[in-house]
Amino acid sequence: MFAQTYGSTTFGVNGILIQVEVDIANGLPGFEIVGLPDAAVKESKERVRTAIKNSGVKLRQEKITINLAPADIKKDSSGLDLPIAIGLLAAYGIVPVTICQNSMFAAELSLEGKLRGIHGLLPMAIHCKESKIKTIFVAPENINEALLVEGLTVYAVETLTELIAFLTGEKVVEPALKKIADPVEIDSFAEDFADVQGQFVAKRALEIAAAGGHNILMVGPPGAGKTMLARRVSSILPTMSNQEALEVTKIYSIAGLLRQSEGLITNRPFRSPHHTISSAGMIGGGTIPKPGEVTLSHHGVLFLDELPEFGKSTLEVLRQPLEDGMVTISRVNASIAFPASLMLVTAMNPCPCGFLGDSEHVCSCTANEIKRYTKKISGPLLDRIDIHIQVPRVEYKELTETKPAEASIVIRSRVEAARCVQLNRFKKNKIFCNAQMSHAMLKRHCALTPEAESLLELVFKKMSLSARSYDRIIKVSRTIADLDHSEQITDHHAAEAVQLRNNLIQI
Ligand SMILES: Nc1ncnc2c1ncn2[C@@H]1O[C@H](COP(=O)(O)OP(=O)(O)OP(=O)(O)O)[C@@H](O)[C@H]1O
Ligand SMILES: [Mg+2]
Repeated sequence: MFAQTYGSTTFGVNGILIQVEVDIANGLPGFEIVGLPDAAVKESKERVRTAIKNSGVKLRQEKITINLAPADIKKDSSGLDLPIAIGLLAAYGIVPVTICQNSMFAAELSLEGKLRGIHGLLPMAIHCKESKIKTIFVAPENINEALLVEGLTVYAVETLTELIAFLTGEKVVEPALKKIADPVEIDSFAEDFADVQGQFVAKRALEIAAAGGHNILMVGPPGAGKTMLARRVSSILPTMSNQEALEVTKIYSIAGLLRQSEGLITNRPFRSPHHTISSAGMIGGGTIPKPGEVTLSHHGVLFLDELPEFGKSTLEVLRQPLEDGMVTISRVNASIAFPASLMLVTAMNPCPCGFLGDSEHVCSCTANEIKRYTKKISGPLLDRIDIHIQVPRVEYKELTETKPAEASIVIRSRVEAARCVQLNRFKKNKIFCNAQMSHAMLKRHCALTPEAESLLELVFKKMSLSARSYDRIIKVSRTIADLDHSEQITDHHAAEAVQLRNNLIQI
């Protein structure tokens, strides 16, 4: 007696279809799972056996062999419980073989026989559709994720008993219907730029950074409002396109951070890890690698407050993702690429006491202390940060101003307009903003006026810029021109971009 059905597991941020083959033969009773199962899948045989028994089905004791194909991929999903159970029931002739052959099953089983939700269902469902399988059976917790994939017939069932009754035709279960999503309140940010008085240079820099997806470093004395400004960046970020939203939702699904009531994530992620985070926490890790903070910030913001407090190695591992927009983690049996196209927002004091360069306070640090403090931030990392700005203490007159400052919604409308131009520009390029442009694209999309060209030539020589810094200045100039609705980059745009790249930290 032989039967086969489909389950799924995840690899990186993608789903992989797993063919579950079950054979029942005469011989010594036994239950063997082959095909590189990991601990969670090996344990599945106890859950499956008990769940089937508690669903009121008695199986004859025989020699059971289960093969999970392809055999060269490590399977780590407890969601293979259900396809193993269904394959077994089909091999015993309890449920019809045909329906199992053309469907995918993805849920964990409780000992009682209930279906439980699993992580990573969205990428699994996407791959299921790509593999031309049209029907998927899931636990009720995963229904919203499965319904995000158009063209799939989704059945959400509570228990194994209910599923057996449906497959044998004893009970009718209707396919789940897509709910019309509640309108998302995008103007309801608790933290708004209207609360931040003064700091016009910093606000303008953050607007440019948000418009083009540029990395930014803020340096200033304690209490200047750096953290306050950074926490408000989310409120001016442009809304995500559908494709961006789907990519982010896939990552959160795999990381198990998708709330049950949530379908598509529409707000850009904002991650702010503590400085004690490890390198593996930052870029991802584990025997079967899981996404880290850089991947969880994909299409959103990674905010590193008090930058020099982070471990040196933790900061250095950021270099590859910041350059490539993705992070590759290699293990003996596989190498996995996670997307990590993010906007890095960082804040720090200029020295340990925080008052270096302050007009009112005297800095009490020695030259050695300052050197030790800033040494953790390497030149190559700084080179990858497009915008460097100083955030000085806010003046008394500005702070006590009763009129609220410009609200986030007004700033966001300008950011949205600039991002719209960029989406149009990069329609054929699979990128979304100026910061993601490659060197070749710069030539195509960044036409400079002759005045801008001569200004940049002068700056390149005077500031002895690296080629990367030069490219990054051009990208920021492109964003400033977009905010100004200008097709060409003029000398005004270039001059502002150069000013935003002050070398504030001496290494
Ligand atoms: N421009 C401002 N407008 C209104 N309030 C401000 C402003 N700047 C600072 N504040 C007030 O000061 C508090 C401290 O600011 P914040 O924590 O952002 O400082 P910081 O620059 O991050 O300091 P540190 O370097 O010590 O981390 C804020 O919570 C806010 O109440
Ligand atoms: Mg702070």
